[in-house]
Amino acid sequence: MSHALDNGALDEGWLGTDLRTWSQSIRNGYIRAFIIFALHETGVFDTLRKSGAQSSDELAAHCSVNRHLLDGVLHFLLHADVVLAKDSDERFRLTRRGEEWLFSDAVLAMSFGAVGAYSPILSELVPCLREEKRYGVDFEREGAYLAKGSYYTGRSNYPWVVSRLRDLDVRTVVDLGCGSANVLISFCQIDTELRGIGIDIAPRALEEARRRVEAEGLQDRIELQLGDLTDPSTYASAVERADAFNGIMVFHEFLRDGEEAVVDIFRAMKERFPGRYLLVGEFDRLTDDEFGAMPYPDRIHPLFYQHAIHPLTWQGLPQPKDKWLELFERAGLELVEVNDEFPFRLVEFILRF
Ligand SMILES: C[S@@+](CC[C@H](N)C(=O)[O-])C[C@H]1O[C@@H](n2cnc3c(N)ncnc32)[C@H](O)[C@@H]1O
Repeated sequence: MSHALDNGALDEGWLGTDLRTWSQSIRNGYIRAFIIFALHETGVFDTLRKSGAQSSDELAAHCSVNRHLLDGVLHFLLHADVVLAKDSDERFRLTRRGEEWLFSDAVLAMSFGAVGAYSPILSELVPCLREEKRYGVDFEREGAYLAKGSYYTGRSNYPWVVSRLRDLDVRTVVDLGCGSANVLISFCQIDTELRGIGIDIAPRALEEARRRVEAEGLQDRIELQLGDLTDPSTYASAVERADAFNGIMVFHEFLRDGEEAVVDIFRAMKERFPGRYLLVGEFDRLTDDEFGAMPYPDRIHPLFYQHAIHPLTWQGLPQPKDKWLELFERAGLELVEVNDEFPFRLVEFILRF
C-alpha cells in the first residue's frame, strides 16, 4: 500500500475529511494543549486524582488559583475532551480515561516539554520567521519545565541504564546537563548504593535540583556542581571519584556548533577521564520515508522534536543512530553497547574513554 493511501485512511479519523472537522480540530488541540498543561502545573488534575470529585470553588481554594478562570477551562475540557465528567452536584471528576491517560509519560512529557517549555517557539514564530526576533536572543524555552519534560521522555530508559551501571561496577555516576536532577534522583532510587554528581550550566536549574534532592532525602548521595560540559576543566575537580558519565538528550544541542564541536567535547573528556565510561541517550533521527510510513499518531512527537523544536531553537538537527556511532569513533571512544529498543526513539550508547 502506498503512503498516500495510508494517509488518506488515517486522515478520516485524525484530521477529518471536511473543512469543519479539520479546522475545529486545530482549535481544539491548541486549546486543550494549554489547558492540560496548566491543570497539571497548578495541581488541579493531581487534586482530582487524589481527592475525587470537587467543585470549581473547592478546587480553586485547594490549588490557590482563580475560581472564575478555572471554572471556564474546566467546562471547556468537560465538553471538548473525554478526560473530565461533571456530576449533578456540579462537582468535576476525572473519568477512567482521564485517570489513565492524563498521567501517562507521553502526556506529561508533552505537557511540560512541548507546551510548558517550548510554547514560546510557536507564539513567537511570526517575528522569528520574519527575522525580527531570534530564539536565544529575544526569548528562551523555560528551563525548569524542560527538565521536567525530559524526565518523562527519558525515564523509561532509566532501569536499563542503572542495571548496566551496576554490571560495569559503577559506584558514582556524573549526570551532565542534570537539569533539576530528576535523572540522578531516579537512578539513586532504583539503586540504593549508587551515588551521583550533577553538572549543569544553569544556576536556576541547580537551585531547583538542590530543592528536589533535599526533598527526596538524597543530599548525602547526590552532589550538584555548576559547570560547562563543553569544557571539562570547569567540573573536573568535582568528579574525581566518578566512574562514569551520563548524558541524556544533552549532547545533540552542541551540534548547532557543528559535528566537530561535539567530537571535541568527547575528545576533551577522553583526555581528562581515560578508562571511564560514558553513557549517551539520544534521539534517532527519521528520514522523510520513515515518517511517511509511520502511523499518523506516532509521527507527531518525533516530528515536533525533529522538525519544530530543533530548527526553531537553532539547535543542530538531531542525528540518526549511525551518525552518533561515527562521531564516537572520530573521538576515539570505545563502543561497549547500543540499545535502540526504547520508546520515543531514544537510543542508549555505552562507551569507554
Ligand atoms: C534537555 S535538558 C536535559 C535534562 C536532563 N538530562 C533530563 O534528561 O532530564 C538539557 C540540560 O542541559 C543543560 N545544559 C545546556 N548546556 C549546558 C552546558 N554547556 N553545560 C552544562 N549543562 C548544560 C541545560 O541547562 C538543561 O538543564
